[in-house]
Parts: sequence; structure tokens; C-alpha cells
Amino acid sequence: MPAAIRFSPLSRALGARVSGIDLSRPLPQTDYEKVHAAWMRFGILLFRDQAVTPEQHVAFAQRFGELMVYTRSENAHSTFPELLVLSNVVDNGKPIGAAISGRYWHTDGHFLDSPPAGSLLHGKEVPPEGGDTFFASMTAAYDALSPRLRARIDALRIVIDRVQTLRYHYPERAAPPANQKDKWPDKVQPLVRTHPVTGRKALYLGGLVPWRIVGLPVSRSEPLMKALQRVALNPRFQYRHHWRAGDAILWDNRCVIHRATDYDMARFRRMMVRATIAGDAAY
Ligand code: OGA
Ligand code: MN
Repeated sequence: MPAAIRFSPLSRALGARVSGIDLSRPLPQTDYEKVHAAWMRFGILLFRDQAVTPEQHVAFAQRFGELMVYTRSENAHSTFPELLVLSNVVDNGKPIGAAISGRYWHTDGHFLDSPPAGSLLHGKEVPPEGGDTFFASMTAAYDALSPRLRARIDALRIVIDRVQTLRYHYPERAAPPANQKDKWPDKVQPLVRTHPVTGRKALYLGGLVPWRIVGLPVSRSEPLMKALQRVALNPRFQYRHHWRAGDAILWDNRCVIHRATDYDMARFRRMMVRATIAGDAAY
């Protein structure tokens, strides 16, 4: 008899640990429905002690939607391009994946026409200290706003500008060439996103970049963005995950933001593999 599926909350605002599911095995439909409902309710799901081959990782993630090839090819898994490798490991002089990624608050693919619905990240090797991942519920943040503020922002749209993001997060780096915008066109996204499955609204801020708000002068948009970001990053909407090898986390990019933290890359190895689940245009 397989173990019963159980969900135990990870924090007040979001997250649940799932027991009784083995990611390496096919997920029967009734179990899928339970897991999917919990994913919608908790925003992130943690599965502990998992060992999966790349095929099994892909097969499990695919139950939640079609996968997308997310990344520049150098960080893709060599035989499964729909798997993204995040690692500081260097093999025969060649990095096996992206060594530094996501170390600021973001939602995956905020700048895409159809941002991914979710990501399933598996920790294969993790450092004993550092390398934690923070998650924050943007549904909880939205719900915490006053009705007046919600009404004021509900229809606003923001300009996701990847050049601005780069300058904001890495001010010490050289500015990208002027024609970078040809490759990275601005993307207008709703500031408040309606979840296509639950119908709940969430702040679709994706972090701390002072995005421009369409139709507002910076003198008005900047203080508004800062005020919203202050609410969004209140620790009470967060869960901090310290990884154990074998942990897998499925998060919902439509209503959760996340950020990686530093670790001692000279001393420790970190090796994470991510499947990215395709999603729809935000509204
Ligand atoms: C990601 C990401 C965070 C981490 O996989 O999208 O941001 O802790 N990862 O590796
Ligand atoms: Mn990410």
C-alpha cells in the first residue's frame, strides 16, 4: 500500500511539505489532483528525500503542464534541454550550469509574453550553510493592502525593462550596449495579476526594481512602487528554505516571488536542476 499523501504547512503565509509522493514514479490522476490542489492553495510544495533521473524529473513536472526550454543553451542539461542546471560545479574546465542566478527577488520570466506558470527545482548537492532560497506570497501581500490602495492599483501596468533590472542589480557592471533593447524589448505587465486557476489577485511585482508605471510620471510612480515593494517584502509573507540534498520544490510563479542567497562557492558545491512549466500571458 503506498503511503497516504499528507500536506503540512511550512510557514504562516505559504508553503507545504508533501509526504507520500515519490517523484520518480508515475503520479496517478487522483494523487495528481490532490497535489495540484495543494499547490494552488499553498503556492509552494516541498518534497523531501527525492532521487530522480532527468527523465523522471521531466515526467513529474510535465504533469503540471507543458515544459518550456527556458534558458541560454549553455545552462541547459546536455540531453534534456527543458532542464536548467544551476551549479557552481566545473567539470573538465567547463561550468556545468549557471553559477550565479536569481540572487535577488524575482518571478521567473517576468519579462516574457507568457511567463512560466511554475518551476520544479531539485537540489542534488547543496552546501551545508548558505544557498538558501526565500519565497514570498504575493497573494498575501496583495490581501494586506487597504481596499483603497487595491482599487487604485488594480488596473495599473508596469514596464519590465531588463536593462533597468541589470543596472539595478549589478550597478558595478558596465552598462549594456545601446542596442541591447533590440534583444530585450520592454514588456508591459499588469501590476496586479489574477491567477488563472484560483482567480485570486496577487501583486505581480517580481522584486524591488523601481519599474515605471504606464501613464504615471516617475514622481508619482516611484513612491507608489516603493510603498508596494515594502509591503511585498514584509517577512511575514515569506518562507526561507534551507536545502537538504534530495529536496524538490515546486513553486507557482504567478503568485510567489523568490530569491537565492549566497554561499561559499570556493568551499562548497551546489547543484540544482530546474524544470520550467509553461504558462499564459498575465492579466
Ligand atoms: C530558479 C532560482 C533559486 C536558487 O531556479 O529560478 O531562482 O536558490 N533559483 O537556486
Ligand atoms: Mn528563479
